[in-house]
Amino acid sequence: MKAPVRVAVTGAAGQISYSLLFRIASGEMLGKDQPVILQLLEITPALEALKGVAMELEDCAFPLLAGIVQSDDATVAFKDADYALLVGARPRGPGMERKDLLEANAAIFSAQGKALNEVASRNVKVLVVGNPANTNALIAQRNAPDLDPRNFTAMTRLDHNRALTQLANKTDSTVNDITHMTIWGNHSATQYPDLHQAKVNGEDAMGKVEQEWYETDFIPTVQQRGAAIIKARGASSAASAANAAIDHMRDWALGSAEGDWTSMGVYSDGSYGIQEGLIYSFPVVCKNGDWEIVQGVDINDFSREKMTATETELAEERDAVAHLLP
Ligand code: NAD
Ligand code: LMR
Repeated sequence: MKAPVRVAVTGAAGQISYSLLFRIASGEMLGKDQPVILQLLEITPALEALKGVAMELEDCAFPLLAGIVQSDDATVAFKDADYALLVGARPRGPGMERKDLLEANAAIFSAQGKALNEVASRNVKVLVVGNPANTNALIAQRNAPDLDPRNFTAMTRLDHNRALTQLANKTDSTVNDITHMTIWGNHSATQYPDLHQAKVNGEDAMGKVEQEWYETDFIPTVQQRGAAIIKARGASSAASAANAAIDHMRDWALGSAEGDWTSMGVYSDGSYGIQEGLIYSFPVVCKNGDWEIVQGVDINDFSREKMTATETELAEERDAVAHLLP
């Protein structure tokens, strides 16, 4: 048996975590041979609810669950963390855009970036789920100057997975038949789900769908899917968000699928002309516990316009929280 790794999860008594923690503890994220210690962070008023979640985790008798820490102190929950899933933040309600949460949630991520900087493993892999995820990841990263900026990522895997199913449904195929899906930019309504490299059973996806469907159905459906779930369910996506977080971390830790790529919000190094330093979703390949932006993807005028629109929004969000970016 391997030595246990420490997995910190914030917002651990919230609805996403209720779908997430049990899957981490059962080995779905880091493998069936990897014991985990869950280090759970909540705000003080939610500690009693967190206790209930921890009791349920105990009652599952997961063979891989090597310990549970519960705290309202980030320096306790992040101590020596190898992985940190930053879920805890306010979700949006009907009629809100994710960036409306910026003010409410930004302070959380500057405090948590500082705490990670102070106590986490120097190799901690951080996934920000709480919205607005990309800019929250930027805030956390900039408040953790001693950690590698590449270790801070934002979740666009849910958008990626949503796009896979939309394309599968349209082309009478299954998600297993689809490769090379890309989400560019922000986890927001400006994100650009790009089908120009996508393949269905090895053939170009764009040859199988009408341009009209691509522009007026596929792109807005993926962009607006979070709002559609909120409208239908009365609460923001939870199980599918947890599932995407598992996918994101598993691929980062254990490697993405051979012969394909995935989408992650990562530190822009200027690839594709995107401003350096933004947390922007790119096509990435993961190997040996690291990610790399896929280079050489053809960008046509249509794609460039959409990539720039979402880049502009991210730059505006960054400027709006400049006071939190040391
Ligand atoms: P929720 O309200 O059910 O749970 C959030 C939890 O976070 C609560 O238990 C709350 O007490 C806790 N919390 C608040 N501030 C905290 C802090 N400073 N430290 C630790 N915990 C804190 O919300 P949810 O449905 O689980 O969603 C969580 C976040 O994830 C929201 O911001 C939501 O918009 C976002 N989200 C992102 C994606 C994505 O694809 N990136 C998908 C779905 C939801
Ligand atoms: C989602 O995409 O489902 C989440 O980001 C929740 C939201 O506010 O849309």
